[in-house]
This record gives sequence, C-alpha cells and structure tokens, in this order.
Amino acid sequence: MLSKNILERGPAKYFHGRDKERHIFKSLLHETIHRGMGSSFLIQGAPGVGKTALIDQCCRLAQEEKWHIVRLNLRSLYDEEEFYRRLTKNKSRHQVKKRYGVDLHLFKADIESQRSKAFDYLNERIIQSQPTLLYLDEAQTLGTMVSAEQKNRVTDFLNTYHNLESKKGFILLIGGLSMTKEILRDVGISRWNRLCFHRLGRLEAEAERQILDDWLQKEIKTPSDTKRWLNAITKQTDGWPSHIEAYCHALSEYLKPQETLSEKTLKQVLDYGNHLKDLYYDQRYDGIPYEYRQLVVQSLESLNTTFLKKDIIASFATSLSEKKAEELYDIIEAKGIIDMNSHGLCGVPIPSLRHHLIETYGKKTMTSVSKKPPRQPSTFD
Ligand SMILES: Nc1ncnc2c1ncn2[C@@H]1O[C@H](COP(=O)(O)OP(=O)(O)OP(=O)(O)O)[C@@H](O)[C@H]1O
Ligand SMILES: [Mg+2]
Repeated sequence: MLSKNILERGPAKYFHGRDKERHIFKSLLHETIHRGMGSSFLIQGAPGVGKTALIDQCCRLAQEEKWHIVRLNLRSLYDEEEFYRRLTKNKSRHQVKKRYGVDLHLFKADIESQRSKAFDYLNERIIQSQPTLLYLDEAQTLGTMVSAEQKNRVTDFLNTYHNLESKKGFILLIGGLSMTKEILRDVGISRWNRLCFHRLGRLEAEAERQILDDWLQKEIKTPSDTKRWLNAITKQTDGWPSHIEAYCHALSEYLKPQETLSEKTLKQVLDYGNHLKDLYYDQRYDGIPYEYRQLVVQSLESLNTTFLKKDIIASFATSLSEKKAEELYDIIEAKGIIDMNSHGLCGVPIPSLRHHLIETYGKKTMTSVSKKPPRQPSTFD
C-alpha cells in the first residue's frame, strides 16, 4: 500500500522549498570549520510547518560532508551519561573502551574528578576530532523542566556547546515550537547570529506544487497530465506542509499505481484531504474548552489579521483574569493557533485555520456557512 510511505510527521520523501535555510546551513558547515568556532542553528515554528523535515534535510547535508551526526534528547542535556551514550551511538562498554580507551564504568563512579576526566577525554576524542553535528528536536520541552538542578545543568550544557571552539567543525542544531527562542533564553542562549535563527512559515506556491507533482508522477506514476489536479489541490493546502502531506496521503488512498486521473477520484481525494485537514485542526483545539475557543475567535474577529501580543491578551482579559489571559495566549501559541512573525506581529499562521476557527466558533456559526476562499496572500508570511 502506497500510504505506508507517508509519515504524517517528520522527514519528507519528496522535500521541496526552504532553499534559503538549506543554503545557509550548508554554508555554515564550511564556515564553522574555517573559523574554528562552532555555531548553533535554530529552526522554530508552529506544529506541522516542517521543522523536523527541515532538520532531516540539514542532517543529510551534513552527512554528505561526512559529519558525525548525533541526535540528542532532552535528557542528554542534563544527564552526562545519557549524553555520552548518544555521542558514542549506544556502543557497548566494551566497544567504547576498545575504540576510545575510556571505561564507561566511570559514569557510574562517584568520584567526580575521574568522571570529568573521562568526559573531557571523550569530548576530545569524538567532538574535537571530527566535524560534529548535535541536533535536538522538540526543544520547547526544555520549558517543562521542573528541577532547578536540571535547569542549571542544561545551562552549563548550552554554555559549552552554543559556540564551542572546534577546529574540526561543530554545529548544535535545534528545532522547536514558536516559543523555543524564549525558552532557550531562559536556560542560557540569549544571542543568535542573525543567519542562524529561522522562523518557518508557509511553503512557497512553487514548492507545494513540486511536492504534489512528485507524489503524482514518481509515487503514483500516473500517465495523466497533473496540472488540473495540482490547481485543485493547492487551492486547499495554503502552502502548509501538514495539509500538503494530508493530500499526498489522500492521493495514495484513492489512486492505484499508474492510474489515470479522473474527476470522480479527484473529488474523493479532495473530500478525504479536507477530512484529514479537519483532523489536524481538531488537534490544534484539543484540550481547549469550548468557551475559550469562542473567546479566542471573538478576540481574533475584533483585531486585524496581524496584531500585537499584548492586544490579544488584553482582549482575553476582558473575560479572564490577567494571569489566565496570558496562560490562554501561551496555550494557543503552543498549539500553533497563533504565531509571531519576524516583525513581532502575531496572527493565525494559516489563513484557512483562521477561516475554520471563525466558521466553527464564531458568532455566525449557527446562521451561515460561508464558502472557503481560495489561497490568499497572507500578511502574516
Ligand atoms: N519542505 C517540505 N517538503 C515536503 N514535505 C514537507 C516539507 N516540510 C514538511 N513536510 C512534510 O509535512 C509534514 C509535517 O512536517 P513536520 O513533521 O516536519 O512538521 P513539524 O513542524 O516538525 O511539526 P511538529 O511541531 O508537529 O513536530 C511531514 O509529513 C513532512 O514530511
Ligand atoms: Mg516535528
């Protein structure tokens, strides 16, 4: 079944777009070696915008240049044993001893000085001896750390690796939801090179057409002309990677390999794609009580399509306490209902999500059902 090839989240089989980010990352691979100084690279954005898929592309670029690539998890930032386990790619104690001459048993030892010696040695042997890319996805989870000790350890970790001196090349690649930069500021990274911080938004129209076209031509291998289908589907996708993925999924569900494209199947694909899109929106609202959803919509309707964070919080605060209003903002930002653009203005990142919200929870919900508009230019991009 073709649909097994599709992952709802994560690396893309047919990746397009994000040329600027990929280009900068590629240059950084060379520049860190040239400068003898490592760098961090942050990719942030709303759920489904394509952070993990882009991180995967960055890893591929690094792999082409033979970099040592290590996937971190939250724990490895505050637990050295976990960090070195990842750094040595889960090699057994015996293998590590043989390859690096370090006895991992020292991780268990209480003697602090011996442990640090082993860590320094591994650092030297692994990170300082080859170009190394450490990457951490879902970095917004750093905001959930409760213990002060963990937080201190993470700060130490970030202080060490944010701009690590290394003659061989070093990058710390981080991905996370839109509040990640602020969370990182809380635990130690306050300054970013302007080329190393990226807020992702919608894909350009050309890229989304290429993804869908690849899917029709390379995956389904349809002999038909794809133009009419691309026009019909891209009216629904708004350049949003999760939506594009939903329609690729629908294509695989309703088309057999090498099938000719027909109007009947197009309708089925559009209906199923829309259904998957609605499920994505349901996830965005999940856990937010109905009356809060209505409050969010009322506030959105009272503001322009882009607005200041303080204005929407003030609008929430007409019905909620100041604290609850701020909490509601944090929740809808984490859910990807609101995002902030590079000018510091907030808005709903996908025009069709705004439309869906207003249609579902707005005042006119009961009396009128408006037609969905075609892809609109978004002042938010
Ligand atoms: N540039 C792209 N080209 C092709 N497919 C893409 C692209 N970006 C994202 N996708 C696809 O869109 C879907 C959503 O992307 P992804 O999982 O990377 O989003 P995310 O921002 O990491 O979301 P989350 O916050 O939920 O983890 C995935 O199936 C991914 O493969
Ligand atoms: Mg992701």
